[in-house]
Amino acid sequence: MTQSMVTLLFVFFQFLSVSVRSQSTSMETTTEFVFPGFKDYQSEIQTEGAATIEPNGILRLTDQKLNVTGTAFYNKPVRLLDHKNLTTKAVRSFSTSFVFSIIHSSPSNGGYGFTFTLSPTPHRLGAESEKYFGLFNRTNDGDPNDHVFAVEFDTLQGFHDGVYNSGNHIGLDFNSVRSDFQESVVYYNFDDQKEGFQLGSGEPIRAILDYDGPTQMMNLTVFPAMLTPRKPLISQHIPKLSEIVQEEMYIGFTAATGRNIFSAHYVMGWTFSSRGDRQAAAPLALSDLPLPQLKEGSLDNQASTRNILIAAGLIVSILMVLGFLAFFIKKRKTSNTRKKLQVLIPLKHYHYNEVKRYTDSFACVVGRGGFGTVYKGNLPDGRKIAVKVLKDSKSNGEDFINEVASMSQTSHVNIVSLVGFCYEGSKRIIVYEFLENGSLDQFISMNAASTAEWRIRLYEIALGVARGLEYLHYGCKTRIVHFDIKPQNVLLDCNLCPKVSDFGLAKLCEKKESIMSLLDTRGTIGYIAPEMFSRAYGSVSHKSDVYSYGMLVLGMIGATNKDRVEKDASNASSIYFPDWIYKDLENGKQCKLLGDEVTNEEEEITKKMILIALWCIQPSPSNRPSMNRVVEMMEGTLDALEVPPKPVLHFPAEPLQDSSTLSEEITVYTEV
Ligand SMILES: *[C@@H]1O[C@H](CO)[C@@H](O)[C@H](O)[C@H]1NC(C)=O
Ligand SMILES: *[C@@H]1O[C@H](CO)[C@@H](O)[C@H](O)[C@H]1NC(C)=O
Ligand SMILES: *[C@@H]1O[C@H](CO)[C@@H](O)[C@H](O)[C@H]1NC(C)=O
Ligand SMILES: *[C@@H]1O[C@H](CO)[C@@H](O)[C@H](O)[C@H]1NC(C)=O
Repeated sequence: MTQSMVTLLFVFFQFLSVSVRSQSTSMETTTEFVFPGFKDYQSEIQTEGAATIEPNGILRLTDQKLNVTGTAFYNKPVRLLDHKNLTTKAVRSFSTSFVFSIIHSSPSNGGYGFTFTLSPTPHRLGAESEKYFGLFNRTNDGDPNDHVFAVEFDTLQGFHDGVYNSGNHIGLDFNSVRSDFQESVVYYNFDDQKEGFQLGSGEPIRAILDYDGPTQMMNLTVFPAMLTPRKPLISQHIPKLSEIVQEEMYIGFTAATGRNIFSAHYVMGWTFSSRGDRQAAAPLALSDLPLPQLKEGSLDNQASTRNILIAAGLIVSILMVLGFLAFFIKKRKTSNTRKKLQVLIPLKHYHYNEVKRYTDSFACVVGRGGFGTVYKGNLPDGRKIAVKVLKDSKSNGEDFINEVASMSQTSHVNIVSLVGFCYEGSKRIIVYEFLENGSLDQFISMNAASTAEWRIRLYEIALGVARGLEYLHYGCKTRIVHFDIKPQNVLLDCNLCPKVSDFGLAKLCEKKESIMSLLDTRGTIGYIAPEMFSRAYGSVSHKSDVYSYGMLVLGMIGATNKDRVEKDASNASSIYFPDWIYKDLENGKQCKLLGDEVTNEEEEITKKMILIALWCIQPSPSNRPSMNRVVEMMEGTLDALEVPPKPVLHFPAEPLQDSSTLSEEITVYTEV
């Protein structure tokens, strides 16, 4: 009996000591996590109030409702104190980084913002909305017993009473929403210049907070998530932190909306490290993070309901009309932003210094044009790249990003693919894959058609180019019209697979220059459709590319062979329409183009290409087939093809002088 009691006591004490020991070891451990979205980490986050983890894994702190608060904390306490001896303690180094997105109720109106918080408790009971961010209330705001440190991201636009009359700012808060340090929202670009941006733009914004224990320095960097700033926004000595931090602290986020204004606050991903050796928190790749999914009709109607109650008659109707307008504008803006992000995120964003290194300080020039200069380079992984450095353009950064986004939709097998871009200060650079085998014009000038091996290749190349164009015209969300199809712009990869290049550039450089580069092309004037010079032939459209494609195919099979054209160039129209091909076709002489020993198959393929090309170069755009149809025709049989009508033409005597028409029409660049 006594023995068993002793044993029991012994076991009990052992249990106690083990549990104490395990607790003390757990206290010693550092905290480190990476949440690229919260889908697989729901159990590690405790949310309260309006906060929730949505099905796609995004952490939503508040939705678009009036007067709400939401909090989300890592569910285990973190230990940030180091004890030097019994009386002296110091806050350990830690590092955290998160990507967030704030979507205002309307482009110019939203609030109130959110905080990243160190708190002794994950339950912010009684905390208020609006300027208290779901973190404090009017009684405990400023109380030194709060033991709360917060970085506040205050988005309030426009009027706000109290000390915070400047919206869109960031502050370091100690036990109070009155920030000890406050900065308006900017990042330092490559040229060390401040660039402002809006926290509530709806775009992903990255925040990096580093605290160095030994020096008690805290750095805070906040910037549009795609970019990389040169230095932190706030770099402060904050000895005060050691008065705040207790043995166990909870880390997380709080957010609030207002009684009249609101925004949805999202955290897309979060990393934290308190390893103490100034180990930076692991970086979050944007492509891994969930995007905000505003549901249709998720806009809260409380505001407009209230307006209806307060105001009457005409005022109400006006407000409603305005409200609906704002609603639709907002919806469009949000979905555009999201679309833009989805296509941009897979692209690599390079630093200027990286690009410089990859190109060996821009040593090897491979091409120049009105848009700028192209250099050859090598990525560290061995891939070769073509780096296009755009001339300083007056277009703003947004235009550039939009253009890169629309180009990046075209990552298709027959299109030269975009690898990434660099946008730092005034520097705008596009990085493409580099194709080793040169362009189709070199291939044509080698007169490759005269050898049997190449004749079949020609057909394959023509079908490849057609597929690339079909993709540009029909495969992207926005139709892309190339407007400059010519052999120089068709590059060949190592398998001699053709890839269409140089699309989308006209819009990126000065209009005038793009027209110049369009016309300043040796001997390629014949590739430009007649309607590009004069409206008399119809309007400029994707069918203009079809014309150029036709001329390209004729060029490939030698039909626009210079000697031949010159002999026949008694009138201007022969540049646009090689009359004599018809004559040869009628006389069954098309194989003359190919040399002497031609098999039946080769003859059939050649005849097919000639007929299709002639359809493509019909002077009236409406008579030309679409690129869909061209691909069908290329893949179909010769028997299925009709001989196109032989056009009667009246070309302007000097078509090239009418470039003013061209400059107007070039603005019809992409068709939605
Ligand atoms: C705002 O919400 C708080 C509770 O969080 C409530 O006490 C207060 O009455 C609300 N104010 C308005 C104007 O709805
Ligand atoms: C504790 O350490 C601090 C500095 O590390 C020192 O200044 C202080 O005298 C020490 N106190 C005791 C009681 O040893
Ligand atoms: C303010 O917050 C404190 C701490 O959570 C709480 O004890 C107190 O009741 C709150 N005060 C009000 C007025 O809600
Ligand atoms: C803070 O930023 C400064 C300037 O960029 C840098 O020298 C310092 O090492 C940074 N400190 C921390 C803790 O990251």
